[in-house]
Amino acid sequence: MPNSISGFSKLSKSKKIDWIADSYFVDKELSKQILKQYWHSNPELQQLHDEFIENTITNYYLPLGVAPNFLINDTLYTLPMAIEESSVVAAASKAAKFWLDRGGFKAEVISTTKIGHVHFMYYGDIKILQQYFNAIKPQLISAVKSITKNMNRRGGGVTDITLINKTKALEGYYQLKVRFETLDAMGANFINSCLEQFAQTFRDSAKQYKMFTDGNADIKIVMSILSNYVPECLVKAEVSCPVAHLNEDKTVSPTQFAETFLQAVKIAEIEPYRAVTHNKGIMNGIDAVVLATGNDFRAIEACAHAYASRHGTYSSLTHASVEDGIFKFWIEIPLALGTVGGLTKLHPLVKLCMEMLQNPSARDLMQIVAVSGLAQNFAALRSLTTTGIQEGHMKMHLMNILNQNNASAAEKTSLIKHFKTNTVSHNAVIEALNRIRTTS
Ligand code: HMG
Repeated sequence: MPNSISGFSKLSKSKKIDWIADSYFVDKELSKQILKQYWHSNPELQQLHDEFIENTITNYYLPLGVAPNFLINDTLYTLPMAIEESSVVAAASKAAKFWLDRGGFKAEVISTTKIGHVHFMYYGDIKILQQYFNAIKPQLISAVKSITKNMNRRGGGVTDITLINKTKALEGYYQLKVRFETLDAMGANFINSCLEQFAQTFRDSAKQYKMFTDGNADIKIVMSILSNYVPECLVKAEVSCPVAHLNEDKTVSPTQFAETFLQAVKIAEIEPYRAVTHNKGIMNGIDAVVLATGNDFRAIEACAHAYASRHGTYSSLTHASVEDGIFKFWIEIPLALGTVGGLTKLHPLVKLCMEMLQNPSARDLMQIVAVSGLAQNFAALRSLTTTGIQEGHMKMHLMNILNQNNASAAEKTSLIKHFKTNTVSHNAVIEALNRIRTTS
């Protein structure tokens, strides 16, 4: 068993690597070589990456792909997508191309409110607490003036503070629930700084509040933190077209296609086992653009799944209808995204991805990301309800199987040609590869 270590964080990068190699790797020299192989040749760029996180030993590459032809609110976009899974970028591209000829995607931001809480305990008289809150509220707002000054100037800031009684769920538990408008910033640092100041002012001023004379003034702050659940930071994206224009595939009529597609969506609305996979497909598209634009995909994921459960059962994030011969497919999803702050101005590739997206505002990015999720889901459902998913997925996965089996350039060329007309499966590829190797 490897030893524990104290002071690891203080070691140099190369000493950290030595320790990891000595503790875990059989071939120590080769493992060190692999780790170093991924260092950037430009030391300044490497240092920038080293300093994004802690205890950095190397870089972990993800491919950055692009999906062109996304017509969103009459503007054409090429979406940058950072993702490791084959067929996602192809699927997004195919869906974009399909809807390009049918009016493109329409998207609108419904709301942009972010939420944060000061969570505290208080066991005294609720009426006195409420009076105290009413009295202290203006002071709370003025206590964060230095933090909110710039945000206010741009038109954002703190929009509301309320006292929430949660004692029915947990004895003594209350919240200051604060609403924020953070404009183009995701706003985590801004929100948390405000909340910590609210907590301090709220607790300290209570000591001077004359109504708290019975020893119950004890307000115990538990924590102050933003919520990544942002159901009021909501965006909607949709596509629509006459049913008759739906499917070019001659094996299924457009009406049959629409009917089966709607059934697939309905199943995801009522069956959590299916909804999780359905939404995973949506997140393929969403996370890839979120990552490429330097946003926090964990926050986006956590929020999306909470939103998908908001009615008490985990359900689909997309919906579909056919009315008066018009097929409509849409997504409604909360997305707290930023186009300033964080990695957005720091990571050279993120800067480039933002430029590729025509330097979007946070509202623009919310629309683009929602569209990416919708397109991905359209492509997946279209495959699932017609050819099955494996055909396209395995076609895209072919290169991974070839690489896993160390196929040479000549073998790849020959097998790519072969599988243009043959079904890809893991076994079929191995057999074909073996055939080439034994005959040559
Ligand atoms: P196809 O019809 O064989 O593609 O589809 P094609 O060769 O006829 O090309 C048509 C267009 O597709 C291309 O147009 C591209 O836009 C795109 P063009 O560029 O030629 O003008 N395209 C590609 N783009 C980039 N690189 C490529 C490429 N190939 C096609 N190599 C395709 C093939 C995979 C697109 C299709 O079968 C598809 O959309 N499948 C769905 C794949 C999918 O959803 N993958 C996600 C991973 S599976 C998963 O995790 C989620 C899931 O479980 C979710 C759920 O259950 O809901 C499925």
